[in-house]
Amino acid sequence: MKNNSQQVILGIESSCDDTAAAVIINDKIHSNCVATQEVHKAYGGVVPELASRKHQQNLIPVVELALKQAGVELNDLNAIACSQGPGLLGSLLVGYTFAKGVSLSLDIPLINVNHIDAHIWAHFIGDRKPAFPFLCLLVSGGHTQIVKVNTFEDMEVLGRTLDDAAGEAFDKAGKMLNLPYPAGPVIDAYASKGDPMSHSFSTSKVGELDFSFSGLKTSILYYLRDKENEDSDFITKNIYDLCASIQYTIVSYLISKFRKALEQSECRSIGIAGGVAANSALRKAVERLGAEYGKEVYIPAMEYCTDNAAMIAQAAKYKFEHGIFGTLSDVCYTRNDEI
Ligand code: KG4
Ligand code: ZN
Repeated sequence: MKNNSQQVILGIESSCDDTAAAVIINDKIHSNCVATQEVHKAYGGVVPELASRKHQQNLIPVVELALKQAGVELNDLNAIACSQGPGLLGSLLVGYTFAKGVSLSLDIPLINVNHIDAHIWAHFIGDRKPAFPFLCLLVSGGHTQIVKVNTFEDMEVLGRTLDDAAGEAFDKAGKMLNLPYPAGPVIDAYASKGDPMSHSFSTSKVGELDFSFSGLKTSILYYLRDKENEDSDFITKNIYDLCASIQYTIVSYLISKFRKALEQSECRSIGIAGGVAANSALRKAVERLGAEYGKEVYIPAMEYCTDNAAMIAQAAKYKFEHGIFGTLSDVCYTRNDEI
């Protein structure tokens, strides 16, 4: 292991459709670069095969940029970290195999990072860090969970989605509204111009702290079908109100479950993480929830909510200092239950 005075770690993220690299030096993120893949827009969702190919094209330029912005070279690295899973296998393999190669050629440790845990680690970037136990609502395009973070190595999942993730609910609703993929940010922007009470949609009733978005999807589908039978321009004429109402339904549902978790478990701080944590209504709602229960609220900066490698590098810093390293025979996993 290298013995330079600085602790320099390169983080890599390639689990879905964003190719990202970031450098952490000691406790500070010095670069955070992301190449977002536009190719999927035309298909209304991520096409795994295309994602892997784009990662191959993007990875080296993104890594070079991250090193350059941080003012370091490959030889300065003390360790390399990468998302090991969950995610799309072909996508993960691009970043992970690269990380193994760097680890082997530079003789530095390989650090495995779980992508979902990393979204929570995003809260520990910078000086203001949540106190434990920390209750986190993790909402992304692939995952929706309520996690009680007791310590860095004890993250207890209190509830999870039984079908779609919250981000998928936004994206699928957007597809029905003829909005481009990913629809979450578009619905967020349009919602600010609409009335959240103008249309009502139902959500599924499932176990106390679990989520299900399949009922909402069906409710939107039938509602739009009936309205379009009366007026074929219904969606176009009502787009802002529809977006506001759908966003209101999703955010209220997420917050109602998070409130239950908050009432049932001891915690000192609360927060949201993942791509949907970029949603303006959810950010405001969680601020209000924290104020109501007298809890400190933590919401990552936008660039650390959606997929990024700074969160991978932040998680890696802890693992590096605690000697938690991977090996060259480790493999990627698509789901957490494969670990
Ligand atoms: O965490 P992320 O970047 O990737 C995954 O790990 O899935 O999350 C992407 C998801 C997409 O479904 C996208 O529509 C959603 O986050 N998203 C939003 C917003 N920004 C991104 N959803 C609602 N409002 C937003 N402002
Ligand atoms: Zn993610």
